[in-house]
Amino acid sequence: MGEFMIVVGESELAKNIANSLGVDYCEIMSTQFPDGEISICVPEEVKGNEVVLVQSIKENVNSYLIKLFFTAYTARDLGAKKIIAVIPYLVYARQDARFHPGESVSSNIVGRLLKDCVDEVITIEPHLHRNKTEDIFKQIPLNAVSAVQSIGGYLQNRESLLLVAPDKGAQDLVKNLSDFLNCEYLFLKKQRIDNHTVDIKLSEDKEIKHKEIVVLDDIISTGGTMKNTVKLLQEKGAENIICIGIHGLFIGNCVQALSEAGANEIISTNTINSEHSKIDVSGAIAEAVKK
Ligand code: R5P
Repeated sequence: MGEFMIVVGESELAKNIANSLGVDYCEIMSTQFPDGEISICVPEEVKGNEVVLVQSIKENVNSYLIKLFFTAYTARDLGAKKIIAVIPYLVYARQDARFHPGESVSSNIVGRLLKDCVDEVITIEPHLHRNKTEDIFKQIPLNAVSAVQSIGGYLQNRESLLLVAPDKGAQDLVKNLSDFLNCEYLFLKKQRIDNHTVDIKLSEDKEIKHKEIVVLDDIISTGGTMKNTVKLLQEKGAENIICIGIHGLFIGNCVQALSEAGANEIISTNTINSEHSKIDVSGAIAEAVKK
């Protein structure tokens, strides 16, 4: 492995990745002007080094994206030898098609912009429902790292687990985790009515009483998917329900609505840091960087 320097905004995850790799961690300094413009300051030590640029993206995604682009371009200007962008939650991956006439295919646009300023991208479980890894962000090498081992490590001492996929997109994830943990799983059927409303149904009859149920999805955004899943499972007699979203956006009153619906635990990884980030994916990312 060559000389690496971690260059980052503000995330604990980035520090953990630097620790796992045993390399220097540098913090990006940024200031904001009254009109909202930002200014970025990158340590000059990036010159001649391979740089792992970790940019966590959370609410107000566009401002974090701009920060990422500014940091990457500046690191390149300063002479970074290679830039690997770690974008734990890959935004715009869901906008991978023109769903309405004239609509932007936003994932391709972000891919093109990234191609201009970084050499490759590492991310955790991007939203790949319609596309294969190599198809999204077509323009740039993309390493989609699995969170299954990290989640499996977190759940490994629990008994009588039943994993639930709330929709088709979560099925591979749930199947892989059930192989890892050697436990049962159940697939549900979801129909999305609009951005805030979904309809969830059981696809098969299954005994769910006396099970520790884990509903697993790649993203918890408004929480609509999880909330309706929790309600359905409770109607069927579920007693203990853990909701795990790999990327926990928890928009609006999501957490309260999930708790009120009856979720016993609400958990995410630290791709987006919050009080629910109980699962650390820094080790999985560091392994990907080493490779
Ligand atoms: C959609 O296909 C994703 O996998 C998630 O199910 C979705 O983004 C969750 O959104 P929400 O929390 O708003 O229901």
